[in-house]
Amino acid sequence: ANTERFCEVTPGVHDTEKNWMEALAHGHPEIAPSQVFAMAALLEGCSYINGSPQNTFVPAIIAAAKRLGLFIAGDDFKSGQTKIKSVLVDFLVGAGIKPEAIVSYNHLGNNDGKNLNAPRQFRSKEISKSNVVDDMVESNQILYAPGEKPDHTVVIKYVPYVKDSKRALDEYTSSIFMGGTNTIVMHNTCEDSLLAAPLILDLVILTELMERIEYATLSVNQHLNGYKLEDMGLQFGKMDSVLSILSYLLKAPKVPEGTPVINALFKQRSCIVNILRACAGLTSENHMLLEHKCPTIGKSSPKKLFRL
Ligand SMILES: NC(=O)c1ccc[n+]([C@@H]2O[C@H](COP(=O)([O-])OP(=O)(O)OC[C@H]3O[C@@H](n4cnc5c(N)ncnc54)[C@H](O)[C@@H]3O)[C@@H](O)[C@H]2O)c1
Repeated sequence: ANTERFCEVTPGVHDTEKNWMEALAHGHPEIAPSQVFAMAALLEGCSYINGSPQNTFVPAIIAAAKRLGLFIAGDDFKSGQTKIKSVLVDFLVGAGIKPEAIVSYNHLGNNDGKNLNAPRQFRSKEISKSNVVDDMVESNQILYAPGEKPDHTVVIKYVPYVKDSKRALDEYTSSIFMGGTNTIVMHNTCEDSLLAAPLILDLVILTELMERIEYATLSVNQHLNGYKLEDMGLQFGKMDSVLSILSYLLKAPKVPEGTPVINALFKQRSCIVNILRACAGLTSENHMLLEHKCPTIGKSSPKKLFRL
């Protein structure tokens, strides 16, 4: 769908499915078109992914997804500038380099660019682009005091001539060793649609796969040895309706209430890899590669003991 302005989430309108349906019937101005599309999709038994930045997922829509056992995921495709940001800032902060100012300009000439020219629609995009560095900044409490953040500015301009060829210009200014300053400047040009289309395919394929995955928890004393799963009286369930495993592909990941938001790209990728490994009965990847570092491992017992 098109980028919309944020709707004003209102008690009595967006809080329950019943209130939302009544508000829709009365043509309430804060029922956004994307909400209607999302609710219609869910009622048709179809999970819904929001590739736009606005707050389509009001409580009534999340409640409908939970009731119907379907997934919702969003918000806003992570296709270009933000994808690079979620790699670069993770690297800088992890390396002890302190980003102080991140300034991102875009110009584009397609219909989305025209739409983002409207201040309230731009504001939705600005919000979805702005929070992407928060978890990476918070992860390094040596660099940043509690509550401290880099200056982060996002500008988008409509330039019809460039059509779908979107331009992104970024400047990262960081404090380094001995009070020095490092500035990285980037200029990225790419067809906007070609960035988005493969993401849409991956989102749909992964969502369909997640719809087939169920999980059960074993109690401490239960072992699978020799038992068939069906004979163990296990209760299988689906993952939470807010499908946060798709964060890798989304700019402002929607997560189940009270759970952490991860924006760092490789952590997000690792989450997908390890969940799929778990489904195949494999251990998660930890990249220690101890068998190549500790000569006796593999020859003796698999239990490892380290001391400092
Ligand atoms: N690289 C990218 O293209 C990219 C990256 C990130 C996010 N997005 C977001 O994806 C969205 C779509 O981008 P676009 O370039 O395809 O925009 P677009 O304006 O070219 O196309 C939007 C389409 O959605 C349709 N639409 C509008 N409201 C609808 C509704 N309620 N139900 C069903 N369809 C509806 C419109 O008729 C139009 O065909 C935008 O919000 C954009 O910000 C795009």
